[in-house]
Amino acid sequence: VDLSSVDPAVVAAYHLDRLPLDRPTRSTSDLLRLDGKVALVTGGGGAGLGNAICHRLAEQGATLAIVDANHDAAATAAKEIRDTWQVQAIAVTGNVADWDAAHRSVQTAVGELGGIDILVNNAGGSGAIGAGGDRLRPRGSFAEMSRQDMETTVGVNLMGVLHMTKATLEVMIAKRAGRIINISSEGGKRGAPGLSVYGSCKAAVIGLTRNLAHELGPEGITVVAVCPATMISDRLLSGGHLTPELDGLMGWSFRQTSIGRFSVADEVASMVAFLAAPAGSYVHGSAVSVAGGFAS
Ligand SMILES: NC(=O)c1ccc[n+]([C@@H]2O[C@H](COP(=O)([O-])OP(=O)(O)OC[C@H]3O[C@@H](n4cnc5c(N)ncnc54)[C@H](O)[C@@H]3O)[C@@H](O)[C@H]2O)c1
Repeated sequence: VDLSSVDPAVVAAYHLDRLPLDRPTRSTSDLLRLDGKVALVTGGGGAGLGNAICHRLAEQGATLAIVDANHDAAATAAKEIRDTWQVQAIAVTGNVADWDAAHRSVQTAVGELGGIDILVNNAGGSGAIGAGGDRLRPRGSFAEMSRQDMETTVGVNLMGVLHMTKATLEVMIAKRAGRIINISSEGGKRGAPGLSVYGSCKAAVIGLTRNLAHELGPEGITVVAVCPATMISDRLLSGGHLTPELDGLMGWSFRQTSIGRFSVADEVASMVAFLAAPAGSYVHGSAVSVAGGFAS
């Protein structure tokens, strides 16, 4: 593409000067690099998706702030990242569901690492979440859900995303640059049996992504949601949720998945890694399914 003969008024009107015209000359591996970038990943301390995302981003050269309610898990993950990828990684203990704690987490990360270029709102789930790793009743009827389970589910899965995004935006707007990746769920696009509150939060995260895209795109900040379906973890395997009869939520989920198998967290982390890097720069305001054809 050559803009030299294009009317400057047209260039200005259509922001043609913002197009990354050097793209065809850059290699794919170069477009996946994140050297010099700082990524904050919430819930990065566990053994699930957050941790897999941290490893992928670190491999691409990013410096990491791992924010997790579980101090030991975050510290272990940060050490593992430093040892494996030779990048800077810090552990920040913080409960995203709490406004003040979320803001403190961001301030700590910015103070120690100098800024935040990429925010991955991953902390969440329908099982062990919350400041103390509360064991929620993972699924069941809305009519029987307790107030505490409802508040924790909304607090982490929705309020946590709002708090962390709000706190991080102060930094990104000042720089007129940034990437926000919200981990939603296929359950936010479609209904599922027994996950009414969780699924509503995940639908709200998709809505937030769409709405923020309008507000932040012109500021140079891009927003995207990623929707996994079931990811196999040791926690899931040891919880007795998988039965040969394919019954319950997991059986239902499996039957919905046309690829014929569940996923591992790294398959979703690879998409996050792509979206965080220049390679994924134009994916904005959408909710990307990484779900094996779930209910498609
Ligand atoms: N596991 C699945 O099959 C699945 C499917 C679809 C979507 N998702 C979504 O993917 C994301 C990751 O899920 P996962 O199951 O891999 O879990 P994970 O292990 O990546 O995340 C849990 C981590 O978040 C931390 N955490 C919990 N509450 C917190 C809080 N209030 N503040 C800060 N940290 C907190 C935990 O300590 C833990 O380290 C979640 O948003 C979840 O809703 C998961």
